[in-house]
This record gives sequence, C-alpha cells and structure tokens, in this order.
Amino acid sequence: MKDILEELQNRRDNARLGGGQKRIDAQHAKGKLTARERIDLLLDEGSFEEYDTFVAHRCTDFGMEDNRPYGDGVVTGWGTINGRMVYVFSQDFTVLGGSVSATHAAKICKIMDMAVQNGAPVIGINDSGGARIQEGVDSLAGYGDVFMRNIQASGVVPQISLIMGPCAGGAVYSPAMTDFIFMVKDSSYMFVTGPDVVKTVTNEHVTAEELGGATTHTRKSSVADGAFENDVEALAEVRRLVDFLPLNNREKPPVRPFFDDVDRIEASLDTLVPENPNTPYDMKELITKLADEGDFYEIQEEFAKNILTGFVRLEGQTVGVVANQPLVLAGCLDIDASRKAARFVRFCDAFEIPLLTLVDVPGFMPGTTQEYGGVIKHGAKLLYAYGEATVPKVTVITRKAYGGAYDVMASKHLQADVNYAWPTSEIAVMGAKGAVEILYRSELGDTDKIAARTAEYEDRFANPFVAAERGFIDEVIQPRSTRKRVARAFAALRNKTVQTPWKKHNNIPL
Ligand code: HXC
Repeated sequence: MKDILEELQNRRDNARLGGGQKRIDAQHAKGKLTARERIDLLLDEGSFEEYDTFVAHRCTDFGMEDNRPYGDGVVTGWGTINGRMVYVFSQDFTVLGGSVSATHAAKICKIMDMAVQNGAPVIGINDSGGARIQEGVDSLAGYGDVFMRNIQASGVVPQISLIMGPCAGGAVYSPAMTDFIFMVKDSSYMFVTGPDVVKTVTNEHVTAEELGGATTHTRKSSVADGAFENDVEALAEVRRLVDFLPLNNREKPPVRPFFDDVDRIEASLDTLVPENPNTPYDMKELITKLADEGDFYEIQEEFAKNILTGFVRLEGQTVGVVANQPLVLAGCLDIDASRKAARFVRFCDAFEIPLLTLVDVPGFMPGTTQEYGGVIKHGAKLLYAYGEATVPKVTVITRKAYGGAYDVMASKHLQADVNYAWPTSEIAVMGAKGAVEILYRSELGDTDKIAARTAEYEDRFANPFVAAERGFIDEVIQPRSTRKRVARAFAALRNKTVQTPWKKHNNIPL
C-alpha cells in the first residue's frame, strides 16, 4: 500500500512540475507566473480541486509518443473565490508551449460542461502557442468543441478570460466569445495574424505589442475589458469582479454585507452640475457617491470614455451602471460608446443584474466618420439592448437628455421602471441654440430677438417639468437624496416579473 501511495505522490509531483524547472524559470524570467501559481492566486487558499491531472495526449506523429507530459499543457478543475464556486482552466506554457491538442481541448470542454450543469462561472487563463502543430486537424477540432461550448454557456454562466501570454490565430475566438477579457500589460497579446504575416500581406511593420497588446485592445479595438500591470494584479481584480456576479442565470447576484447608510445624504451633489450648461463635470463623482462604500468596478475604462460602464452595489446588491460622461465629447453617444454600453446592458440583463442609467447626453455625435461607420446600426444596438432588458431599470437624468439619445438612454418609453430627473435636467428635442436657429431662421440677424427666443425656449424646455407633467419622469428629485431614492426604487423592484412573447431569438442589429 505504501508503495502505491508513494507512486501516486511521485506522479503528482511529476505532473505539478509541468514542463520542468528550466521552463518554469524561463516563464518567471518573462515576468509571468506558472499555470498553477496563477490558480493559487485566483482561488481561495487550498480550495482548488484538480481534475485530469494525468491526462496525456495520444498523438504518435513527429515522435510525440516519446513526449507525453502529464496534464497535456492545461491545468483544470474548480475552486472557490470568497467561498463561491468557479471552474477554471489555466494553460501551462511550460508544457509544449501550452499548445492545444485534442486532449487539452477535451479537458477544457469537460470543466465547461460541469460549469454549465452545476451553474458556476468559467474562468479561462490563456497562455498558449495555439493549435498543437503536431496534431493537425485534431487540434482544430478541439478548438471547435471549445468554441461551441463558449456559445452554449453564453448567458448561462459568466465566462471570464484572462490573457496572460500569447493568444493568436483562431485561438482568439474562444476568449472573444466570453463575457469579459482581461490582459496583462507587456506580457500578453492577441491577434488573428501575427506581425510577420501582417508584414507579408499588407507591408505594415508592427510589433506584437502594437498589433495586439493590452494597450491596443483596451484603447483601440475594445476587444479587452481591462488591462493590468502584472499577473498578480490581474488575478486579484478578477476575484473582485467575480464578487459582483451571480454564479449563473438562475441565481440573483450575491448580496454582500454593507456598512454604508442607504439613506446617506450627499449635499455636494446639489452643486455637481455647473451653472453653465456647457461646462463639463465628472459623472464618476456621482457614481462613487451613490455606490455602497464608493466602490465602482469599471468595465472598459480606457475605451469610449464618453460613456461609463461598470458595477456598484446598493444595499449590498450588485447594480450595473451606464452613465454618460460629460467630461469626454460632452457625453455624446457615438459608435464606440453605443457598442460598449449595449454589450454591458446585455450582460446585465442576461444575468439578472439591475441597471442604473445616469443621463447627461446632448445627442448623437454628428459627422461623416460616424455616419460612414454605421452609427445608425450601432446606436440601435444600445436602444435595442435597453428595450429588450427586463431587469429592473432605474434612470436618473442629471442634465441634458436631448433628442433620440433621450429615448435611447433607458427612457420611460423603453420600459424603464423608475425615471428620475434632477431639477437641472433639460429634456427636449435639442438644446436652445440649435432649436432657435431652426425655428427662427429668418430672425437670425436680430440678436435681441434671438436672445428673447432662446430665453423663451429655455424657459419652456430647459427643465424636467414638461416630461414630468406627462409622466415620462416619475419624480423630480433632489440631487442630494439620489442614493436613497435609487436604492428604494431598486428595493421596490426586487420581485419584478415581465412576460415577453415567445420567439426563437431576437435579431439585434449586429
Ligand atoms: C506545438 C509549440 C507550439 C505549437 C510553441 N510550442 N507553440 N508546440 N505547437 N503551436 C512549443 C515550442 O516548440 C517550444 O518547445 C515551447 O512550446 C516554447 O516555445 P518557444 O517558441 O520556445 O517560446 P517563445 O520563444 O516564447 O515563443 C512563443 C510563440 C512561439 C511565439 C508562441 O512558440 C510560436 O510562434 N509558436 C507557434 C505559434 C503558432 O503558429 N501556432 C499555430 C497558430 S494557428 P520546447 O520543447 O522547445 O520548449 C492556431 C490556429 C488555432 O493556433 C485555430 C483555432 C480554430
């Protein structure tokens, strides 16, 4: 018996060494942790249950029968994050470059199937040279199986990808179908074709970092939702994100203990909106002043900064926030902002996370770049996402809510549940200047007349009361009491149910 136990231990030790000390040292020298070190930091201490430790590939081409390391380049299993279950796979670059074989893919598929069946998120740590070259089409088949599971798990359990090394070629499409992608600066990259192919085909000279590094994907392409300085920070931040999320689509988000008075009055909010309607202010200040303990987990912080998206808690319960940011492009909606917010709204709706929308929007961004880029279709994504969302929806207009953008930003007309406005709100087809220039074109030469017309328009429309008269605004509230009003609104909506007509699926303008 002792021998058998010893053998098990030896085999385990062997498996845990991955590709051996030399390759582990090389991994560390690149500033990267190993697959197992990453899992240790991601999960609660001692909570990891590993599966398929002894799986080895079955390839016999190119001498591979003599190179069959345990685990086959990916560590899989489940564990807990602050006591809540998650499934995890972590590609081991020290074993055959973390390349994906048929058996490697089967290990990932196995835990994804378990995650869907048992209702827990999947966290994938990607660090791989891509398809195992020696396995040919078997590897591609394995990827295909993972892709299919990404699709099937979408909207059932949250899927989170961490990119912590190479992720190239078709391999990028698995993370791309997950809910969130996080990258590590300077040690991770994602691209469909690498710099060499780019050079040959398009004659562009570009480094891997420029083509698909963390900065590129968080600022330019918006493929990634966040970038972190190193592995440790990335893993800690994913733990923080998981705390906001439900385990699956049948469960409500977790309720955390909170130590922040829900009736807290924030007198400073009464002066947040400047006197001059063209002066910007920081909408983040409102978000952090509303949130329990000022905690705001921002998603896509570096992209389309004219709109803010992320998670807060109110009375300990997760709320998804979408807010126009007057500091950037005056808070206009454009293609990027619409896409960013629409995807966020859909995630929240899929996972029963209530939505808080904070509005200060002067309209859609004009211009040929926007029109040629299809702002009509992209803007419609946000409109559509809000309209189809059946989670509790609470909206606060702080200042401008003009034109189509007023309708889009979770207005009453898109079946938002509770719509508040601050007294500083201006809800109209457009701002006074634009309106007067159209309505009184013939009087444009007469400055006194135009000033009088502008004042008349502002008097009539630069306020929330016309909308409030019609019931499009449920109540005009004091800025200082916004936290309390919003929290009470969500509390009243906890048992909201909505019946929607049967359909196979909708046809969101993609
Ligand atoms: C088999 C691989 C491998 C792969 C790396 N290795 N990639 N083995 N299949 N795809 C092995 C190497 O042979 C080496 O083994 C070890 O992993 C480490 O690789 P190095 O090259 O020494 O590491 P590094 O210098 O850091 O370079 C990393 C790399 C490079 C840039 C990822 O390895 C590379 O270019 N690999 C090939 C990438 C690729 O073309 N993949 C196919 C893409 S197409 P030893 O024994 O020496 O340590 C694809 C399609 C997916 O993935 C389709 C899905 C539908």
